[in-house]
Amino acid sequence: MEDQAEELRELMRKKSFSTERIVKPKEPKRTRIITITSGKGGVGKTNISINMAIAYARIGKKVIVMDADLGLANVNIMLNLVPKWTLYHVMRKQKTMKEILTETDYGISFVAGASGISQIANMSDDERQNFIAELDSLNNADIIIIDTSAGVSSNVLDFIAAADDAVIITTPEPTAITDAYGIIKIIATQFEDLNMGLKLVVNQVKSVAEAKMVADRMTNIAGQFLNIKIEYLGFIYSDERVSRAVLEQKPFMVTDHRCKASICIQHIVDRMEKAEVQPRGGFALMFKRLFGR
Ligand SMILES: Nc1ncnc2c1ncn2[C@@H]1O[C@H](COP(=O)(O)OP(=O)(O)OP(=O)(O)O)[C@@H](O)[C@H]1O
Ligand SMILES: [Mg+2]
Repeated sequence: MEDQAEELRELMRKKSFSTERIVKPKEPKRTRIITITSGKGGVGKTNISINMAIAYARIGKKVIVMDADLGLANVNIMLNLVPKWTLYHVMRKQKTMKEILTETDYGISFVAGASGISQIANMSDDERQNFIAELDSLNNADIIIIDTSAGVSSNVLDFIAAADDAVIITTPEPTAITDAYGIIKIIATQFEDLNMGLKLVVNQVKSVAEAKMVADRMTNIAGQFLNIKIEYLGFIYSDERVSRAVLEQKPFMVTDHRCKASICIQHIVDRMEKAEVQPRGGFALMFKRLFGR
């Protein structure tokens, strides 16, 4: 009897051993980094970053919004949060990215920006290297959305370099279009031979036709004069619920997930999900992009 019990135990030991052996190692999870940028300020980057993040969370993704606007960080204001630590402390190596990650009530996490700290206008090579390593430590997330400041500081280019997708935001205003074209031109020249998924969102439009006209114009000019392909991701209606939600310090996807702007955001995320993610080429390429410019 004892022998039998021992035999059984032995069998179980072998079984669990063999099960362990046949479990395949998981495929390494790939974090998609999406940088949101614009030429002109005030076109809706922060609103789009936060609300896209919520739309992604609603389809089951683990999402982090990073406020990389180092001049006028305001993701925290829109989320009504007071961060203790910010990206500044990460860049200064006083904190790790994981340490400053803040949970929100909306199913997304958040990395606060460093408002008004002009001395980190540009990262040194050492800080940049540290930043890449820190960014990689967030590899548990499915999506990282980086909200940048308007225009093309060296930092904004760094955040674009680190991304899988650079989403350019414009409005139909001629000044916003001109400035968006300007940033596209700089990206095209800075990352000449590199595979970057450039995408366009037209915000604050009155009609589908208006959005399409702006998108056609931009994609044609970029194709013709810069030989660069831009994918038109979609548009967002001008919607008073957006400004109302900003006043309430809550994302409009939360205050009214069925308003026109929310539905547009959902469409944009659907299109993002359908778009092919260009291989970022791992760290080697990221380093080349970040240091080879
Ligand atoms: N689709 C929209 N409909 C109505 N108002 C909008 C829309 N998108 C943005 N806005 C308005 O524009 C303002 C600026 O938006 P937001 O702060 O997101 O722009 P930004 O590009 O991040 O600005 P900055 O360049 O200063 O960081 C918002 O406070 C809101 O009132
Ligand atoms: Mg902003």
